Amino acid sequence: MLKKPQVEFDPLSHLHNTYENDLKIVNQLIFEYINTTEPLIEKISQALLSAGGKRLRPLLCLASADLSGGITKNSHKIAAAIELIHLATLLHDDVIDESNLRRGKKTANTLWGNKTSILVGDFLFARAFELIVKTDNIRFLEILAKASTTISRGEIAQLRCSCSLELSTEEYLKIIEYKTATLFAAACQTGSLSSEADENRADFLYKFGKNFGLAYQILDDIFDYTHKNRGKETGEDFREGKVTLPVLLGYNADPNKHIWHKYFGENKENYNSFNAIKNRLNNLDSFNQSIKIAQEYAKEANKMLESFDSHVKKDFSLLLKSFLDNNS
Ligand code: IPE
Ligand code: IPE
Ligand code: MG
Ligand code: MG
Repeated sequence: MLKKPQVEFDPLSHLHNTYENDLKIVNQLIFEYINTTEPLIEKISQALLSAGGKRLRPLLCLASADLSGGITKNSHKIAAAIELIHLATLLHDDVIDESNLRRGKKTANTLWGNKTSILVGDFLFARAFELIVKTDNIRFLEILAKASTTISRGEIAQLRCSCSLELSTEEYLKIIEYKTATLFAAACQTGSLSSEADENRADFLYKFGKNFGLAYQILDDIFDYTHKNRGKETGEDFREGKVTLPVLLGYNADPNKHIWHKYFGENKENYNSFNAIKNRLNNLDSFNQSIKIAQEYAKEANKMLESFDSHVKKDFSLLLKSFLDNNS
């Protein structure tokens, strides 16, 4: 007898299906807010939007509202504003990181230059805040203004520490908390509050988002070495001399520290040695050790959802598992 082919459950698609109608509203709002008579803004924002993106932050926001009593009009506004903030940070981040590929397409800085990318990023930031104001709730403004400041601080701290092999794990974790986990956390917290849940419940979801975001960024930093075809270039962190968790762990475990200073550090030489350093990291077990740390944060994230009674928490725990298993 022919076996029915097993269709693997895809938690991200499942979440997209669950919130299909809400995401449609969110996408409409995003399009409405990038709509302008300035053709350059329109062109660049559309290019980034139509290239895709997982819409993780809007999903976290909507699901947190759902877990806290129900999605409201304000949940849609907040979810759209958070994606606009995210898009702005991507435009700026690709300038800083001199990236050529984003969402499988040439980056805005490659196509239109740094000046344009920075200005359009600023426009998207500002539009996000216009939308937040429309919620008529100063608490959202407070949380998302603070989150935006924190993201900038994270990117600036990362720039300051780039090439610094003496970075401690604590400092690295602070940087990724600031630049990435903060927006995940704020998406969950504001999502929860948009359903008019109390601050206690929103705090739980904030912690869920923060741990989710930490696990997510650690994986992004590992996959920068180990994975191809993610819609962005492999080896970018190495090229930039970014000291990420696998590098930190590798450097600290390696008795031959001088080798690392050739690739990272003030006087780094422009060696074409990505594969050599990747093998070294592999031999030092740095990728596995980093995955273990990401798993710890994923575990913490799941713990935060324990008290919630909904199928959504299973979807998110499977989503984290799929990221950890490299399936996404
Ligand atoms: C990219 O975020 C920046 C990081 C935090 C690693 P995403 O991985 O959510 O990017 P898109 O929105 O799906 O393209
Ligand atoms: C992304 O960090 C953080 C923000 C966009 C603020 P990365 O620089 O690691 O993200 P990717 O790898 O370019 O997506
Ligand atoms: Mg980057
Ligand atoms: Mg990265």
